[in-house]
Amino acid sequence: MNDSSDVMNDSSDLSARTTLVVGASRGLGRGIAEAFAGAGAPVVAVARTSAALAELAATNTRIQTMVADATDAAAPGNLFDRYEPAIVVLVAGATPPMRPLHHQTWETFSVNWHTDVRIAFHWLRESLLRPLRPGSRVIVISSGAALAGSPLSGGYAGAKATQRRITGYARDEADRAGLGITFTAVLPRLTPRTDLGRPAVHAYAERAGQAEDDYVLGLGAPLTPEIAGAALVDLARADAVTVAPDYLLTAEGLRELPRTDAPG
Ligand SMILES: NC(=O)c1ccc[n+]([C@@H]2O[C@H](COP(=O)([O-])OP(=O)(O)OC[C@H]3O[C@@H](n4cnc5c(N)ncnc54)[C@H](OP(=O)(O)O)[C@@H]3O)[C@@H](O)[C@H]2O)c1
Repeated sequence: MNDSSDVMNDSSDLSARTTLVVGASRGLGRGIAEAFAGAGAPVVAVARTSAALAELAATNTRIQTMVADATDAAAPGNLFDRYEPAIVVLVAGATPPMRPLHHQTWETFSVNWHTDVRIAFHWLRESLLRPLRPGSRVIVISSGAALAGSPLSGGYAGAKATQRRITGYARDEADRAGLGITFTAVLPRLTPRTDLGRPAVHAYAERAGQAEDDYVLGLGAPLTPEIAGAALVDLARADAVTVAPDYLLTAEGLRELPRTDAPG
């Protein structure tokens, strides 16, 4: 017998594990949606731009689309009810205005708090309150900037650090309640291969007084949406007991991060 609970237990089989990719219309999220569909998962691709989603859906019949603003507090509950996902990947985030601290306004500085942190908060909270079914996975895309800082993008690094942190809080709450949901934060390294990464690379190259191509070379092999997609499929397929709280994501794939300190 192979009912849906058996399939949930066999984490390598994605064919019955509906995967919600929030922020799938372009960039890393698009690569992640394509990779899960390519690996056999039914995918629900969520973003605000219907034309880009329609283009994505045309690439694979396993991809269906949903136009939604993920910052809306009602969005996760509505989409969880409608699709009952086994895997939720939160990729959506705002492009931070690139300028030094003193040229930020509070509004530009806090953009990623009102988008990235807000999305993580609402979706993590709803994952616990529903709760999602035992065996579910929730993966939050934070940033390597959470570790290294990002002095030209205002509150971006702090917002991404908060996403990582509250993913850990959700993981602890799920464990305390015995929910069987695995929460993981993934921190991609800066890449010029997306609309969000390109202006950041441009700004840091300019600040370093380097030609953009030279700066990009110095970053090493670039992380691509395809590499991100393949890495996340492997993560979703891994046995839950082997999954670490957080990972750095580079062109070489996922690298487990050292465990953080005790509560302070
Ligand atoms: N690129 C990098 O170098 C890099 C490095 C580290 C971390 N990251 C993180 O990785 C994630 C993806 O980055 P990316 O470079 O792929 O960005 P991107 O190319 O700008 O794509 C962002 C995606 O998020 C969606 N989105 C934004 N706001 C949304 C909202 N309110 N509701 C629903 N969807 C929304 C966008 O679609 P619509 O506009 O159609 O809604 C788009 O599909 C972000 O969280 C980013 O911080 C990126």
